[in-house]
Amino acid sequence: MKTIFSGIQPTGNVTIGNYIGAMQQFVDLQHDYNCYFCIVDQHAITVPQDRLELRKNVRSLAALYLSIGLDPEKATIFIQSEVPAHAQAGWVMQCISYIGELERMTQFKDKSSGKDAVSSGLLTYPPLMAADILLYKTDIVPVGDDQKQHIELTRDLAERFNKKYNEIFTIPEIRLPQVGARVMSLQEPTKKMSKSDANKKAFITLLDDPKTIEKKIKSAVTDSEGIVKFDKENKPGVSNLLSIYSIFSGKSISEIEESYAGKGYGDFKGDLAKVVIDALSPIQERYNSLINSEELDAILDRGAEKANYEANKMIRKINNAMGLGRKK
Ligand code: TYM
Repeated sequence: MKTIFSGIQPTGNVTIGNYIGAMQQFVDLQHDYNCYFCIVDQHAITVPQDRLELRKNVRSLAALYLSIGLDPEKATIFIQSEVPAHAQAGWVMQCISYIGELERMTQFKDKSSGKDAVSSGLLTYPPLMAADILLYKTDIVPVGDDQKQHIELTRDLAERFNKKYNEIFTIPEIRLPQVGARVMSLQEPTKKMSKSDANKKAFITLLDDPKTIEKKIKSAVTDSEGIVKFDKENKPGVSNLLSIYSIFSGKSISEIEESYAGKGYGDFKGDLAKVVIDALSPIQERYNSLINSEELDAILDRGAEKANYEANKMIRKINNAMGLGRKK
């Protein structure tokens, strides 16, 4: 059985961008693959975090993984910092990465531009991500479009290591969703939707209440043409809303376009709000019953145990390949 690994940062509330780009795929894939889904809290601290907020977000993301339909009997759900092998392998990956290639990463450039104090962790974020993936002999990494460059780097690092030391790493493939690989901001539809956007109206979180969802969709930026048509170039706002509509309703874009022929954006946005609210409400119900449960802790304990067991096997191989410590 092939192996899947993916991770999400517990920073702020998870958005429908994260859901559409990544999480929705996880649910489908769990039946056919050996899956690991990680809460990457060590990636989160590459930018400053409030201790209590971070703790809350770690738990919240764990509950969300389960609420969207992941089955802990099928998928291993765990917290990165509870598996020390990630930091260990992350160090090794840093030692085989070049500063130049890390400085070329778009995410690093975006997150560091204009700041005077940038943590070195932000630069070495991708080697830690490579470690996450390579520790589990991962074949496939389901992510959104913005992670493409990091997966390419992971492949380069794995190949570099295999060539220089020993053939121990599987070279992973990326898997992007067919629709929604890049969900855009509701306020600036040429920019990706991000949970860290200062403007809260730019994103919808999986835990937003119906009133908030409605307000955010109604105030989403569109254009003055008044025609519901998919045209990414000239109508980025409407096209983004159409993609969201299509994903949450299961209808094709052309079907939706047809049903709004001759109608304005008001009707379209009102219906879209309903579609999103209906899709999120069962997730929110499950979330509320899980968030304070002991069951959640038990699942995370089991996840950490399984991940530690698998990851430590790879650490021994890495150490042996590089000559670290004594032979084991
Ligand atoms: P993060 O937490 O930023 O995002 C989690 C996942 O959501 C996807 N995503 C989106 N997809 C579509 N449209 C959007 N607007 C959007 N915003 C986010 C991301 O592509 C991602 O799949 N570096 C990763 C976390 C990570 C990881 C890993 C992922 C750490 N180690 C190992 C895979 C494998 C990140 O920052 O995700």
